[in-house]
Amino acid sequence: MSVEPVVLIINGPNLNLLGVREPDIYGRETLGDIEAWCGERAEALGLAIDFRQSNLEGEIVTWVQEARDVHDGIIINAGAYSHTSIAVFDALLACDLPVVEVHLSNLFRRESFRHHSYVSAAAVGMICGFGAHGYLLALDAMARLVRTEPP
Ligand code: DQA
Repeated sequence: MSVEPVVLIINGPNLNLLGVREPDIYGRETLGDIEAWCGERAEALGLAIDFRQSNLEGEIVTWVQEARDVHDGIIINAGAYSHTSIAVFDALLACDLPVVEVHLSNLFRRESFRHHSYVSAAAVGMICGFGAHGYLLALDAMARLVRTEPP
């Protein structure tokens, strides 16, 4: 039986299109590539991952609610819902788990409507601007959060 901490990695709307969607902004890696990289990094860190994507706000809210009982932390790229969804924000506040926010692009070099994220106010921290590598940085951060290890 596995005793590894399990991290839920949630990807929001349009992230299923990675690889073909605005590659100059989001990179050429597909979400499948990112999932594979995360799996390898998680294994090296002694973590397990549950990697998901949804285009539906309510589905993401439900996943966050359910995570409370079955996961040890949440890494979330909520896509455009980061900037709009009080429902995702409320669910993250209620889940009682460490949350790390990730974005592929540097939000602060983009349109002003991307500069505010509701998710940030529910997260321990946020990583943005490093492309797909940001997910690995988020896993490194999460490994420490779930184990309360020194840096
Ligand atoms: C994104 C940034 C968001 O503003 C955008 O709506 C996305 C992707 C990112 O990973 O850079 O869908 O979350």
